[in-house]
Amino acid sequence: MAISKKMEDAINAQINAEFYSAYLYLAMSCQAADMKLKGLANWFNIQYQEEVAHAMGFLNYLNERGGRVLLTTIDAPPTQWDSPVAMFENTCEHEAKVTAMINDLAALAFEQKDFAASQFLNWYVKEQVEEEATADEILGELRLAADNPSATLMLDRELGARVFVAPVIG
Ligand code: FEO
Repeated sequence: MAISKKMEDAINAQINAEFYSAYLYLAMSCQAADMKLKGLANWFNIQYQEEVAHAMGFLNYLNERGGRVLLTTIDAPPTQWDSPVAMFENTCEHEAKVTAMINDLAALAFEQKDFAASQFLNWYVKEQVEEEATADEILGELRLAADNPSATLMLDRELGARVFVAPVIG
């Protein structure tokens, strides 16, 4: 079954949103590097790579379903955050928005009885639960460590241990 125009447009919008997410986290990674917080820079760099993988997952899916991928302008992300806590507040807020977009896509697939798309989107629905939980956990830890330089340094080391594992999407 060919993918509907409405679903094609919605997936194209999601591809743009995932690339924007990548750009947002890359900007955070660069600021963290500038602040000499190497672990934080590493964590956001991996987050950036994950977002590119999310975008590519949608892009490959649309190609596979015979849809037409249309790449559009990616908005510029902010360039400055007041603190690592502010970065993670922004991350939590942003991921909640992404979750709402994924939920809208899942609702559209359901409405259109596009069960192939529903199955595909399930991966993203689950991924968003993880994305929100992880960001929320790190935000909590950073808030606890906020006024304590040695605790912040320890947390930075932990964030530095994150490695990129290419997700298997779908
Ligand atoms: Fe692609 Fe962070 O969701």
